[in-house]
Amino acid sequence: MTPGIKQISKVDMALRSDCYHIVDQTRPGEAMHLYNNLREDVETRGHILFVFYGISAPLGFIKGQVSKIKNEAKVDYLFVDKKYQCTGIGTLLLKEYEKYCLQKGVNNILLYSAPTIQAYRFYSNNGYVMLNENRLMAKKFNLRSR
Ligand SMILES: CC(C)(COP(=O)(O)OP(=O)(O)OC[C@H]1O[C@@H](n2cnc3c(N)ncnc32)[C@H](O)[C@@H]1OP(=O)(O)O)[C@@H](O)C(=O)NCCC(=O)NCCS
Repeated sequence: MTPGIKQISKVDMALRSDCYHIVDQTRPGEAMHLYNNLREDVETRGHILFVFYGISAPLGFIKGQVSKIKNEAKVDYLFVDKKYQCTGIGTLLLKEYEKYCLQKGVNNILLYSAPTIQAYRFYSNNGYVMLNENRLMAKKFNLRSR
C-alpha cells in the first residue's frame, strides 16, 4: 500500500471496517451509524470521501457533501486514528477536501465541530469561524486570490 491520500468512490467491507474502528475510538454511537451508511453515502448519494493510508492501513478519513448549485460544501466526518493524532494527518485531509471543493467552484465550507477543545482548536487553526452556539463553523475562500 502506497502511503498518502486517495479519493475513494467504492467503499468495500474492509474500508468500512477500518473507518468504523477509527470513529469508534472517540464516538462509539456514531461509529455504528457511519458503518451502516458510508457505502451508500459515497456510492449512491455522491458524498466525497478521502482516506489517508498509512503503510498497512487507513489512518484517517474525511467525508463531506459538495453542492455546486448551492455553492456550499459540508464536512460530515473527519477522524484520525488516535495513535496518529497531532501528526498533521487531519490538516492534510482537510486541505485535500478544501482543494477539491475549490476545484468544483465551491468556496463556502460548513461543518459542526465536535464539542471538544481539540476539534475547536483544530478547525480554528485551519481558518474556520464559529457561527452559532450549535458549534456551526464556516470558512469562505476568495476564489480569485487562489
Ligand atoms: C480533530 C482531528 C481531526 C485533528 O486531526 P489531527 O491529525 O490530530 O490534527 P493535526 O495534527 O493535523 O493538527 C494538530 C492540531 O489539531 C489540534 N489538536 C489535535 N489534537 C489535539 C489534542 N489532543 N488537544 C488539543 N488540540 C489538538 C490542535 O489545534 C493541533 O495544533 P497545535 O498542535 O498547533 O495546537 C483529530 O484529532 C480527531 O480525529 N479527533 C477526534 C475526532 C474529532 O473530534 N473529529 C472532528 C469531528 S467534527
